[in-house]
Amino acid sequence: MSAVFEVAHLKKAFGGLAVTNDVSLSMSSGDRIALIGPNGAGKTTFVNLVTGNLAPDSGEVLLAGETVTKVDAIGRVRRGLVRSFQVTLVPGHDACRACRACRLAPEGANRAPHR
Ligand SMILES: Nc1ncnc2c1ncn2[C@@H]1O[C@H](COP(=O)(O)OP(=O)(O)OP(=O)(O)O)[C@@H](O)[C@H]1O
Ligand SMILES: [Mg+2]
Repeated sequence: MSAVFEVAHLKKAFGGLAVTNDVSLSMSSGDRIALIGPNGAGKTTFVNLVTGNLAPDSGEVLLAGETVTKVDAIGRVRRGLVRSFQVTLVPGHDACRACRACRLAPEGANRAPHR
């Protein structure tokens, strides 16, 4: 099956720190991959390079066989490449309170919707 998404020899360094160092991968329709690594390993940098939020020093990003390395983030979204952003929740945040309210509410309790 032909690749719908490819990364070829992608490189990005911040000063002397080579964060993305010659990364290549290929995905076909239906493939799923997980990118794992400790804090600071370079996961977000890689995603930023793929989505066009950051320009690589070298290498290519391809969608359906077409290079999008010089296409901006909005242009890549228009070609079907989307991402969700990591959202950090801190105690006191509304979403945190909503999660706690759900967790603390008894199963099947007749409760008003959380605001
Ligand atoms: N704009 C930048 N300028 C300089 N250094 C950067 C920049 N962005 C990231 N780095 C450095 O690149 C390395 C990789 O960072 P990155 O945020 O990609 O890691 P991560 O795997 O997403 O980490 P986390 O699990 O904490 O989200 C870190 O050492 C970080 O300090
Ligand atoms: Mg990250």
